[in-house]
Amino acid sequence: MSARLTDRVARLMRAMTIDEKIGQLNMLSGGLVVTGPGEPGDYMAALKAGSVGSLLNLFGRGQVREVQRIAVEETRLGIPLIFGYDVIHGHRTIFPIPLAEASAFDPALWERTARIAALEAAAEGLTLTFAPMLDVSRDPRWGRMAESGGEDPWLTARFAIAKVKGFQGDDLKSPLSIAATAKHLAAYGASVAGRDYAQVEVSERSLHEVYLPPFEAAVAAGVAAIMPAFTDMDNIPLTAHVAILRDMVRRQWGFEGVIISDYTAINELVPHGVAADVTEAAALALKAGVDIDLMGLAYVEGLPKALQSGAVSMEHIDQAAQRVLMLKEELGLFDDPYRDAAVKFDHKARRVEHRDIARDAARRSIVLLSNRGNILPVTQPPRRVAMLGPLANAQAEMLGPWSGAGLIEDMVPFLPGMRAAWHESEILYAPGVSIEGGDTKGIEAAVGFAERADIVLLCLGEERYMSGEAASRARPDLPGHQEALARAVLATGKPVIVLLSSGRPLIVPWLFEVAQAVLATWFLGSEAGHAVADVITGQWSPSAKLPVSWPADRGQVPVFYAHRPSGRPMAPANRYSSKYLDLPNEPLFPFGHGLSYTRFTHRDFNVSPSELRAGAKVTLSVSVRNDGPVAGEETVLFFLRDPVASVSRPVLELKGMGKAWLEPRQTKTVEITLSTDDLAFPGTDYAPRLEPGVIEFFAGPSARDEDLLKAEVHVVV
Ligand code: BGC
Repeated sequence: MSARLTDRVARLMRAMTIDEKIGQLNMLSGGLVVTGPGEPGDYMAALKAGSVGSLLNLFGRGQVREVQRIAVEETRLGIPLIFGYDVIHGHRTIFPIPLAEASAFDPALWERTARIAALEAAAEGLTLTFAPMLDVSRDPRWGRMAESGGEDPWLTARFAIAKVKGFQGDDLKSPLSIAATAKHLAAYGASVAGRDYAQVEVSERSLHEVYLPPFEAAVAAGVAAIMPAFTDMDNIPLTAHVAILRDMVRRQWGFEGVIISDYTAINELVPHGVAADVTEAAALALKAGVDIDLMGLAYVEGLPKALQSGAVSMEHIDQAAQRVLMLKEELGLFDDPYRDAAVKFDHKARRVEHRDIARDAARRSIVLLSNRGNILPVTQPPRRVAMLGPLANAQAEMLGPWSGAGLIEDMVPFLPGMRAAWHESEILYAPGVSIEGGDTKGIEAAVGFAERADIVLLCLGEERYMSGEAASRARPDLPGHQEALARAVLATGKPVIVLLSSGRPLIVPWLFEVAQAVLATWFLGSEAGHAVADVITGQWSPSAKLPVSWPADRGQVPVFYAHRPSGRPMAPANRYSSKYLDLPNEPLFPFGHGLSYTRFTHRDFNVSPSELRAGAKVTLSVSVRNDGPVAGEETVLFFLRDPVASVSRPVLELKGMGKAWLEPRQTKTVEITLSTDDLAFPGTDYAPRLEPGVIEFFAGPSARDEDLLKAEVHVVV
């Protein structure tokens, strides 16, 4: 039993029947949106009978108010509902997808956009979001990489903290805060071969070092809820994983919030092969610590029988019901079920401000991957421009996967964005081909436009639902006949700037060889077109960096910078070294890669003191100078390597970052402070362990060896 029940919750617990308690564990769909398999049923009779504790996929002031009124006025105990929804990268105002926003390496931005998403969602009656998604992702075949913060645990942990703070604000009771859900615990991103919902193979050490830290950070930041992954860990589905959910998350980490199953994940314990029927599945999940059954009706169906047979105890049910009621208490729902202040919050009046932030977020998320001959920026409006490709005027695609309540008509795609920036230029537009289609008849017209233009903006990529959930691609490259379009346009010899829209790195090495410049434009949200125009015209010097390594070839996947050293490290001349015969080991672009319109020089890397005892702090500083023609922002990444330890350590680990805005010829010092806790690693018992010896530090713009400055300290224990 939780020690911190309020009197009200204790009173309610005494008054509730078993069915009402189980009802609190039941989350059903309000039916406005569908985010999983099956038809949302009619929840109204169940709600009135006290058998529903929360709803998902229903929002809108009037609708939510009416359903809440029924819960409060027409059920026996009048317990208010929680309203949950996937507010992933914005609610009405749509921000860049998480992978794109991660490219900004900017926790303040991440927090700001989550705060706005929370305001807009709360204004439409929502009290909980199924975000942030914290699955470290190293395999671009897995579509859900789009929802992630990329390949790095430290960066994803920063993302976790910023998003939790942004969604939840200072106080969950505020009607303008919504509860956050850290999902999907854990290692969902390691599904084998990048296939969604497939088995996961990770070592216990990788689980602890790579996949868990973002969740632990979210818990430390006070996240209200956790969602276990659909997948398994060591052959036990996370939804039934006692060692992870109960022993680690609850006992060791001290997590007191609610654990919400993924969509019908309790029922899926049956096809997973660990439960014979829904009753057994319900018992396993409850005993593992899952409080809320999302969409499965497994608890409603199975728990009464499981209780009767002794498979679960009343204490299990009570604990879960209490946690749900305590979340409602923390959200202030008993005193203010309609969250009246949120309803009064006029988010339409804030629309312009929110869109300004969406534009800033979007331009800070665009990664300049290549820029041969410095073709970008195009500071003088060209006389005639050809905007070609199926993504050039693709309004719906700008929403990206999981687009909240964003409306297609509110999105600014690239074409109108460029028209607004270059209003005196003649802009010729032709899609050429559709994203996936087989018809190539439009290529000729597109080539004709290219021939007549001074410059071509070629907009290629994926359709938005080709990434996100259930969107694995064995070949994450350009779908349909886009390659044929690109090659035909490039053959004109005109300068071609490619805008690449996707929810993952697209493996198109040939494109980088032939296009003058390539921008990763991901899915940028409401202000995509204006943000892209800011970058192309040079109003904004690109500052984003890749949060994932960009593979040179499918055969390298998964490729990531923080790999362990090999006993036979890659040596080009040595046959018996860790390498391919037919490909380089290195990705096409490393983690942290991202060009700008200026040149930053990093020098004078200092680490002090040079000798450290346990508990000491160490300051890392580097001076950054802008040696190029325009002002811009640089992000310095700080890495560490422990060359000799009792367990083999990664060749590099990100441990910090710092930003500097620099005018031309300006120099600034970028500094971070670490403690010896940051130098420790999980020992054989996975408890933090600090060992004596040398620690190497590195500073630079990316994880590429040649880009890094080095310094050392000695740890004395
Ligand atoms: C997804 C979750 C999501 C849930 C509710 C599931 O299919 O895996 O990420 O929060 O649906 O929409």
